[in-house]
Amino acid sequence: MSKNAVQRPSGRGRFITFEGGEGTGKSTQIKKLADRLKAARMRILVTREPGGSPGAEIMRHLVLSGMGKLLGPEAETLLFAAARDDHVRTVIQPALNQGAWVLCDRFADSTRAYQGSLGSVPIGLINAMQRVTIGDLKPDLTIILDLPVEIGLQRAAVRRGTGAPDRFESEQLSFHHGLREAYRKIAAEEPKRCVLIDANSDPDTVADRVWTALRERLLPATASVISA
Ligand SMILES: Nc1ncnc2c1ncn2[C@@H]1O[C@H](COP(=O)(O)OP(=O)(O)OP(=O)(O)O)[C@@H](O)[C@H]1O
Ligand SMILES: [Mg+2]
Repeated sequence: MSKNAVQRPSGRGRFITFEGGEGTGKSTQIKKLADRLKAARMRILVTREPGGSPGAEIMRHLVLSGMGKLLGPEAETLLFAAARDDHVRTVIQPALNQGAWVLCDRFADSTRAYQGSLGSVPIGLINAMQRVTIGDLKPDLTIILDLPVEIGLQRAAVRRGTGAPDRFESEQLSFHHGLREAYRKIAAEEPKRCVLIDANSDPDTVADRVWTALRERLLPATASVISA
């Protein structure tokens, strides 16, 4: 068993979050992991932030349309917190209590990186909001996808086609470089919870890296079902 393997009460599911900058492949990799776990007959819930519950999806729209930016960084952080509070209470925690594995596309580390490191929101406010919204609900595993900024933005631009970039995609290049550094710092500071994955390969190769990290970190819970 890996020295970082997670010990949890057997009835509870596992909470896995995916983090990283724009276009690093979070949504692609979540889908691949969900398919693999479902094939192993595991109960999986895929969700995302901001959003993930009906109330929080309304706030997602506000934030990504740029409305939150007009209110200023602190108020934008409060909007994210309100969305997370609803998402955790109505979706994530109930699913974990029922034994499902929850795969979440972005979570609290995105707040630390975007609003904390780059939005200059005081860490005290971010910590206070985190206590209110997620309490003790720490992810069992956080996959941080790491990719040169230019490649991530290029991937996001190809996916977008002729559509307009969203509120964060349209930030300056320096913002995205800062974002990558912020995520790398989080991974270095919390090595038990976080795994930094090199995302600069084809999707299946990256998926194999994610799979290896999952098997190493979440054993023995996964040993009997995903020994492939
Ligand atoms: N490993 C990869 N190699 C090449 N292209 C990829 C790879 N992974 C994903 N893509 C493509 O890059 C684009 C962005 O991927 P994806 O939507 O998964 O990223 P994301 O991290 O979820 O982005 P966002 O932060 O905008 O939500 C998509 O068009 C996807 O098909
Ligand atoms: Mg995505």
